[in-house]
Amino acid sequence: MGNRFSGKVAVITGSSRGIGKAIAVELAREGASVVLNGRNRERLELAQKEIEKHTKNVISVCCDVSDVKEGKRLIDETVKTFGRLDILVNNAGVSMRGYVADLAPEVFQSVFRNNIYGTVNPTIPAIPELRKTSGSVIFISSLAGIRGLPSLSAYCSSKMALRAIAESIRIEEHKHKIHVGLIYVGMTEIEHQKETVGPDGSVMILKKRDKKKVLTTEFVAKTVLKNIRKRMFITTMTPVGKLNKFLQARVPLLVEKFILKNLHRFEEGSQ
Ligand SMILES: NC(=O)c1ccc[n+]([C@@H]2O[C@H](COP(=O)([O-])OP(=O)(O)OC[C@H]3O[C@@H](n4cnc5c(N)ncnc54)[C@H](OP(=O)(O)O)[C@@H]3O)[C@@H](O)[C@H]2O)c1
Repeated sequence: MGNRFSGKVAVITGSSRGIGKAIAVELAREGASVVLNGRNRERLELAQKEIEKHTKNVISVCCDVSDVKEGKRLIDETVKTFGRLDILVNNAGVSMRGYVADLAPEVFQSVFRNNIYGTVNPTIPAIPELRKTSGSVIFISSLAGIRGLPSLSAYCSSKMALRAIAESIRIEEHKHKIHVGLIYVGMTEIEHQKETVGPDGSVMILKKRDKKKVLTTEFVAKTVLKNIRKRMFITTMTPVGKLNKFLQARVPLLVEKFILKNLHRFEEGSQ
């Protein structure tokens, strides 16, 4: 337990499980007051019990951040309870699978609604509060947000959009000293039945991932906290992620050739 975030108030969207919950645990362990969020009340209650082992200063706001009013309610309830906001981690997000030719167009709508609007909806009402505290707004992107990948078109494009939003806010809020962080997260362990959206829009459950090949949620969470503490802009996780970002910026067609030769590596099974 540390106190590097003591006195700070943090909202983490989509924190009832997975990476969001791990970020909430780490922030609570470092002394922050924590606001949890998710759509499923039961999952949220379980997560709150876990965070209560580290802090008494935790509340849950059960809401869907892809809804404009609900995104605002998340921020309003935070300020009403704790009187301030220092950190907003935009973590809630959904993934999808399927080639563009096979996708129901609604898949794009659903992914954009959750991953883009679900980020913008809490961020807009948070900005006036973050100006008061010179706080941080963090965008959880993915290594899949660096270039378009097979089967992940809607997901990749939604995560790429976060970079543009983050860049705009950095310039717009420069004089208000708001810190903006963008994290390109690598493939991470699955601790539960992780859902994704199938080509026809139905829910698919992903298979457990080989633990040796993926990051732990704790490692991802600690990396996010480092980004916030050091007020960094872009954090790219894993050596392969860093190499991909470097090559994509300089020789994108070479990266494309590599992907075409290794298509099987981009297929992830569902249960
Ligand atoms: N896991 C990976 O390998 C990986 C890699 C790179 C980037 N990322 C990114 O990291 C973030 C977290 O991923 P994860 O794997 O931890 O996901 P996850 O296990 O599926 O958890 C997603 C969380 O977000 C909540 N959520 C989803 N949509 C929401 C909405 N509209 N409003 C409120 N809460 C919502 C979920 O709870 P409810 O369903 O109850 O609402 C859950 O708490 C995502 O943005 C993802 O794109 C993940």
